[in-house]
Amino acid sequence: MENKKFYITTPIYYPSDKLHIGHSYCTVAADAMARYKRLRGFDVKFLTGTDEHGQKIERIATAQNTTPKAYVDNIVSGIKELWADLDISYDQFIRTTDDIHVDAVKKIFKALYDKGDIYKSEYEGWYCTPCETFYTEHQLVDGKCPDCGRDVEKLKEESYFFKLSKYQDRLIEHIESHPEFIQPPTRQKEMISNFLRPGLEDLCVSRTSFKWGIPVEFDPNHIVYVWVDALSNYITALGYGTEQDEQYKKYWPADVHLVGKEIVRFHTIIWPAMLMALDLPLPKQVFGHGWLVIDGGKMSKSKGNVVDPKVLVERYGLDAIRYFLLREVAFGQDGNFTNEALIQRINSDLANDLGNLVSRTVGMIEKYFGGKIIADHAATDFDEDLKSVALATLNKVEGYMDKMLFSDALNEIWTLVRRTNKYIDETQPWVLIKDEAKKSELAGALYNIAESIRIISIIIQPFMTKAPKAIWAQLNIADESIVAWDKAKEWGLLPADLEVKKGETLFPRIDIKKELAELEAAIKAAAAESVANKMKDEPKEEEPEVEHKETITIDDFDKIELRTGTVLHCEKVEGSKKLLKSQIKIGNEVRQILSGIAKYYTPEEMVGKNVVVVANLAPRKMMGFESHGMVLCASDDKGNLTVVSPEKAIDPGSEVC
Ligand code: MSP
Repeated sequence: MENKKFYITTPIYYPSDKLHIGHSYCTVAADAMARYKRLRGFDVKFLTGTDEHGQKIERIATAQNTTPKAYVDNIVSGIKELWADLDISYDQFIRTTDDIHVDAVKKIFKALYDKGDIYKSEYEGWYCTPCETFYTEHQLVDGKCPDCGRDVEKLKEESYFFKLSKYQDRLIEHIESHPEFIQPPTRQKEMISNFLRPGLEDLCVSRTSFKWGIPVEFDPNHIVYVWVDALSNYITALGYGTEQDEQYKKYWPADVHLVGKEIVRFHTIIWPAMLMALDLPLPKQVFGHGWLVIDGGKMSKSKGNVVDPKVLVERYGLDAIRYFLLREVAFGQDGNFTNEALIQRINSDLANDLGNLVSRTVGMIEKYFGGKIIADHAATDFDEDLKSVALATLNKVEGYMDKMLFSDALNEIWTLVRRTNKYIDETQPWVLIKDEAKKSELAGALYNIAESIRIISIIIQPFMTKAPKAIWAQLNIADESIVAWDKAKEWGLLPADLEVKKGETLFPRIDIKKELAELEAAIKAAAAESVANKMKDEPKEEEPEVEHKETITIDDFDKIELRTGTVLHCEKVEGSKKLLKSQIKIGNEVRQILSGIAKYYTPEEMVGKNVVVVANLAPRKMMGFESHGMVLCASDDKGNLTVVSPEKAIDPGSEVC
């Protein structure tokens, strides 16, 4: 067995009163990876935690008449409960309010300052008072706040700056000479061409306008920028900067930081630059996974489309949810979450394929041999193929897992599950039982099926935490040495005269129609509760005031021709950070339309979308390209933007009225 260390981290989560299934996605993936490495004999350190500082928390706490610390304490216990419900096997939970973290961040900031990589200057920028955020000239949209569209004023704030620009060339060099550093490779290209090549600016790393954060030790009016605070968790959790830094020495550099795609930038530019400045080794890999989306939009509480992992686990069981999250979507890409897809997976892969395999096998062994697995038996014509598929599975799964390809790994295991079901159909135990001369062959068939199940039960362990043990209980496997990871590469380990015991159905089938209706209601209730809590939690002044425009008549409205369209092709407009250029089918015509949505959608996400277009808008030129029409979008003052889509499928070109 290998005996190497493996240090894996999830992002540290913002303490929000309800983490949704999208947050759980990252943590479940990290957990599967940690379990896999432990099974392979690695000394694993799996870190997760919470990112608890910042102005938003301070405001919510004030609005609730409590302290920020008391507020986050309450939420963090809920997050820990959720991880317990999802069987997340983390080794450490770091909170950015932990003393060990706070002290180490102060030291890190000071070390960067002493080195000359942090300097004091003035942050001059355009300030949006309602958003309490500075913007640079080029971030403004038509001279207004890019997030809420309101007027901005020029302000100066004394701040510390980190010399990020100094590290630009070293970062490019590192990323290009270590292709494994940013995964999947598309994210690497994105970082180089969107951020590094255009040039890095020094980063403002302190704030003076609020208090809830880690004070700069030598200038306590300043609070350390939340990302410098948060990113440091990966080493402060290991005792970096203290006398007890054995874990740091043992586990750093991290083998992988698992993060969602929108925070890859912080982890592959700011974090490595900080480490370079501190003369510390860089993490070996940052893996940016995609988002779980609902109807093409990212889940978020403010959108009211949260899917509560607790509700899902209560209804279907933990293994089903973990399986679905890792199987349904290729890790790295975005994936659409639908209740229907979840239930279909449960019914087909879990109830039909795996659950049924186990229950009918145990049932036949009971019926034909009084529950005994007979080790001394004859061969059948189909054994060799089953054996070779079974014995090859582990290596293939390892190959996929080492590349973080969870879905492919599960697909490989299910190839074996289905091959085993096919073996039952080939050997036809119900026919063999009728012929006394075939009794030994029948015993052989049942033994082989049980062996295959033993192998499956070993390999599903990183993904499922309940089913393996439930299967061992049914096969009555007490000797755990025959279900050790590497024993999935050996055949014939089930002992003679093992007596099986039928247990509960592993994965009950679900009546999809009835379930969908009930689930929809449960999720809506949970979302409504979350929105209600949010309204209670958040300061009233954050509620945006809707500024209405001048009233128009129906005749005015009638002048606007709105039509549905389907995006056939979409690309970025060179030289523009904002614009996407789409070819949109409207009836039998294909229009070119430019939209300022590049910050919110990638061209790939746009292709295939059904949108609503202002079709009779006069054509105009933008960045040298003609744009004929306008894609309708909705945006709020929190920086969210979504294109408007027809709720049901409808032909492109249909009139919207
Ligand atoms: N606090 C920062 C991370 C600091 S790490 C030094 C943060 N927190 S977060 O709570 O907003 O998000 C945590 C993780 O959840 C991110 O990786 C994010 O991508 C992930 N997800 C949030 N919603 C998601 C989906 N709908 N789908 C998949 N992952 C998503 O960012």
